[in-house]
Order: sequence, then structure tokens, then C-alpha cells
Amino acid sequence: MKKRLIVQGQLSDAQLATLEHLFEITQLSKAMSLDAPDNRHYLAEAHGIIGSGLAITPELLDAAPKLEAISTISVGYDNIPVDELTRRGIMLCNTPDVLTETTADTGFTLIMATARRVVELAEWIKADQWQASVGPALYGSDVHGKTLGMVGFGRIGQAVARRGALGFGMKVLYSNASPKPAIEQQLGATRRELDELLAESDFVCVTVPLTAETERLIGAQQFALMKRTAIFINIARGKVVDESALINALENGVIKAAGLDVFEQEPLSASSPLPHMPNVVALPHIGSATHETREAMAQRAVDNIRLALQGEPPISLVNEEVNQ
Ligand code: DGY
Repeated sequence: MKKRLIVQGQLSDAQLATLEHLFEITQLSKAMSLDAPDNRHYLAEAHGIIGSGLAITPELLDAAPKLEAISTISVGYDNIPVDELTRRGIMLCNTPDVLTETTADTGFTLIMATARRVVELAEWIKADQWQASVGPALYGSDVHGKTLGMVGFGRIGQAVARRGALGFGMKVLYSNASPKPAIEQQLGATRRELDELLAESDFVCVTVPLTAETERLIGAQQFALMKRTAIFINIARGKVVDESALINALENGVIKAAGLDVFEQEPLSASSPLPHMPNVVALPHIGSATHETREAMAQRAVDNIRLALQGEPPISLVNEEVNQ
């Protein structure tokens, strides 16, 4: 008998066909809660779940006693209670590596767009304001040669830093739980305590995962340490930042500008002041959202669940302890 798999995410026809060949598939729309009463009987029989933005709770796991593996189409898994999965012997697989460079591109897009006021000035032309050449009131800030402070220095943080150091001659500082000597040498990067990094950087770019330790890591106290000319970039998770402290810092000139791909509440409501501020570039969580990368992420997630349910080691297993 084929194992049963719930699919709640975007897969190509070919990817679905691969899975259909091996498993009994139930496709659920993204809008539908996984543990809605109508889905309970699917959960009761499911051996695997694959999808993005999956809302997994202990109650949902109680309703899925046969579950062996969850494959999320994302690198982040802050929406999934990993310890709870591990305790129940359920594998969690994610999609690192394939999105590193694309997400770093997004980070650098935000650095450039905020520093050079790209969105604000494009809007300015649309409003028919271009009557004479721009003066100092509309000048931006240089990126090349400045100091880039990376808060978090995992794969994506290092990829942003590589762009800054090798492409733009930036001095790189980083704060991270462990030192990274090889990349320090490659980029001439220096490890700093967070407070020192905040005080010294022209661009502060956050790439830490959201955990109990990093929730609201950056708040009023941290913004106060930054230069008044500092530009703040967040491509990690919105909850790493105290968003009202950020709004306050931007409104009161504590920092100069912000480039944001992630927010405390997503989707971000148009009633938030952030997307309306001229010194903010706000994007709808598009870190990895290119055709090529989303296809590669979905493929990695398909490979992970296929291997996991066939009793082979998945490519990217978060809770290795389950397989020991
Ligand atoms: C991830 O993979 O965690 C990204 O944030 C989704 O784009």
C-alpha cells in the first residue's frame, strides 16, 4: 500500500507527478488550515506533509498519529515546533543552500535601494516633480567603501557580506554565536559584540533565524546605539525586531532609513506606517522569490519527503536526532 502524503504548497506538474507515482496524494489549498475539521481524516492517515508556510501545532500532530516526516519549502522553520516533532520521532526537512544566493541578492537590493533612495525618487518622477536636476535634499549615501554590519553570519549572512566586501569594497563586521575564521580571512571580516557592531556600522543587516533567543533582538536600545546615518536592513524574520521601536527610530531620525523584506505580521497591512515612509523600502517577503529558486526549493522539498518516506536519509534534515 502506498503511503499517504498531504501537499499544501506550489509544486510543478512534474514534481507532483513524481510524488503521485510513489504516494497517495491529497492536495490542500494554501488558504485552508491544515487542521480544519474537513481535513481531519486526511491528517489521521497522513505519513507525510509537504508545503510552505505550514502552520504546525502540537494539536495538529495529535491528529496525525501516522506522521513520519514534514518537508517545508523554506529554509526557515520558526512556524514549526521542532522539539515536539523530535519527541514524536517525526523528521523535519527544509531547503537550505538552494536559496542562499537569491536571498543575499534581495538583501543587497535593499541596501542599494535604500542608500540611493531608488523607490522614493522613482515615485518623485511619476509625480512629475523632475523640473530641474536634483539637489542635496535628494542625494543618497554611498554604499562602496562603507562598513557593513551583519547580525548573524550563517550561509545567507556570509553571502550578503561577500557581495559587500568583494563587489563594493565594504568593511565587514559580524556578530554571531561562533567565530567564522575561514570567511573572516576570505573577506577581511571581523567579529564584534552586537553593541559594538551596531555603533560602528553604516549598514546593519539582520540575517539571524527567529528563535526564543533572537525574538526582539533589535529594539529601542539597539537603534539608539546605531549611527544617525545608519541604514537598517532586515531579510530574516520580522519578529527579530521590535517593529514599533523601528517605526519610532525612523520617524525621529534615530536612524536614517530601512530596507525591509519581513514584518512582525505578514502580509503587512497597508495601514502600517512603514510602507508609506519615504525612508523605507518595504518588500512583500520576496527573499527567495525568483522562478529559478522557488523551483529549486520545491524540488529539494520533494526530494526530502521522497527520501524520508522511503526510509532513506533526506538531503536536508533539521532534527538529525530522529534518524539516530
Ligand atoms: C525561507 O525560506 O525561510 C524564506 O524566508 C522564504 O522565502
